[in-house]
Amino acid sequence: MDIITKTEKIIKDVLAENNYEEENVVLSVSSRPEFGQFQYNGAMGLAKKYKTNPREVAQKIVDELNKYEIFENINIAGPGFINISYSKKYLTEYLTEISKDVSENVKKYPKKKIFLDYGGANVAKALHVGHLRTANIGEALKRLASLVGNEVISDVHLGDIGRQSGMVIYQLREEHPEWVFFDENYEGEYPTEITITNADLERIYPLASTKAKENDEIMEEVRKITAELDKGKKSYVALWNIIKEISIKNIKNMYTKINAKFDLWEGETDSYPYIDEMLEILKNAKCLEESQGALVCDVKLDTDKAEIPPLVVIKTDGTTLYATRELATILSRKQRFNPDEIWYIVDSRQGMYFEQVFRTSYKSNLVDKNMKFEFIGVGTMNGKDGKPFKTRDGGVMKLESLLNEIKEETSKYVQDSNMEESEKKDISDKVAVAALKYADLLPNVEKDYIFDISKFCSLEGKTGPYILYSVVRMKSLLAKSNMSDYKMYDIYSQTEKELITKILEMPIRIDTAFRNKTLSEITEYIYELDSLYNKFYAENRILTEQDESKKQTWLFITNLTYKVNKLLLDTLAIDVPDRM
Ligand code: ARG
Repeated sequence: MDIITKTEKIIKDVLAENNYEEENVVLSVSSRPEFGQFQYNGAMGLAKKYKTNPREVAQKIVDELNKYEIFENINIAGPGFINISYSKKYLTEYLTEISKDVSENVKKYPKKKIFLDYGGANVAKALHVGHLRTANIGEALKRLASLVGNEVISDVHLGDIGRQSGMVIYQLREEHPEWVFFDENYEGEYPTEITITNADLERIYPLASTKAKENDEIMEEVRKITAELDKGKKSYVALWNIIKEISIKNIKNMYTKINAKFDLWEGETDSYPYIDEMLEILKNAKCLEESQGALVCDVKLDTDKAEIPPLVVIKTDGTTLYATRELATILSRKQRFNPDEIWYIVDSRQGMYFEQVFRTSYKSNLVDKNMKFEFIGVGTMNGKDGKPFKTRDGGVMKLESLLNEIKEETSKYVQDSNMEESEKKDISDKVAVAALKYADLLPNVEKDYIFDISKFCSLEGKTGPYILYSVVRMKSLLAKSNMSDYKMYDIYSQTEKELITKILEMPIRIDTAFRNKTLSEITEYIYELDSLYNKFYAENRILTEQDESKKQTWLFITNLTYKVNKLLLDTLAIDVPDRM
């Protein structure tokens, strides 16, 4: 059990022995480290509840806590803040224990099944930075949820049908009218391959989109094609399946580059088999009414401050839309996985839509009330001009070009001329991805933020390269020591003590990150930890230290700090190169 949970449990026991009822015992990081490593601030609340003097309550708690050998120097400050420190003996024991498996230094939750929906790239459209951020955040949240003890399942939920399908098919018909897909009299088997590439798709979609926007007739054609595809027209389905395959291959490639791993590669169309049953459920629950030819679900509540419009479930022309497939997907996930929670990590501008979807699901009993939905809205990544990130020539920034621009900045960190080209490439890839991901995860999830390449690639400050540089240095120090086993003997300096306290703080920070779904809690923590480590590193000459106990202790601390970094960077899905 992690040190924080253990301490909170002790305090809980002590309170119970004194007949104080308290549901929630929280230990926090000390705001005055000179008085203690951690703080318990519950005495004031208890005194109020039991109408006694807070210092008296605090004193009672302290008297009991003093009986435990693991603590040291417990004292009361101000009106009743209890400062707690751990004995050196216990610290040595605990740190030795977690150095074998640092995930022991994490608060665990009762296991739930959490289904995460993130990434959400759209087939046949260029994968842009927005789909990248939801992937980075989703992947990290998934790993975090798993780290604290949950079972997780992830699905990329591709946008594999919609207006873009109609546009691409329209444009292909313009360019290749001779294809059998467009021959209404064709009765044979449709081909399973065509001669276009992903690069063609990247040209075709924007072209068709511009044309359709400028010309109503073309837009109408696109609508017609989209509707026919939705209704299952064989030739279009066959063609669209080929396009999907080409595009998904590219999407997989991109998501692999940023370490986003999905258990399921499903898309909106995978929900088709569930649509009828979903509609049946809504109908039976009297959740579908006709409105101007469409079928909608009224979701407003008396308590609403702003008006929430009804959710359109079936369009006027009888075809499905994003929401239809959303609801059917929910039914599919419920039937196949029966999760306790579904988390959606999606552009924050879809917040209202998801509110409508969640309300419809509960109102119609598509899912029962104890299945929890969570919408995690993600802010946009903007350029220095405050507008969505663009390429140098003003186009939509694609992941690939973004990574290349970052690499131009970070390649200077890989200078070693003795390195093989392949190793250099591997390192520069990892540094670039780390720069991007760390920058993506540092601000609050819902905030728009400005992506400033030179700032996020700097070797100083809160950046991926700074963290990697620090971690690689720990690793190389450990390698150079030529020792594989080190013991902690003592604590020799103030900086060491601060560094150790920072490591003990980890369960609190991860817990906060998980409860509030704030990954910035973790990125900030890693930065604080590594800054302290680098201070410690600068103060000591570890490898040439003559005092064997000191040297071993310092290597022990280095190793532990390294392991904490590895675990947390792995949680954020950031790879660490072997050297830099
Ligand atoms: N494809 C969607 C988009 O680009 C995101 C999908 C999000 N997930 C979902 N279940 N709707 O906006």
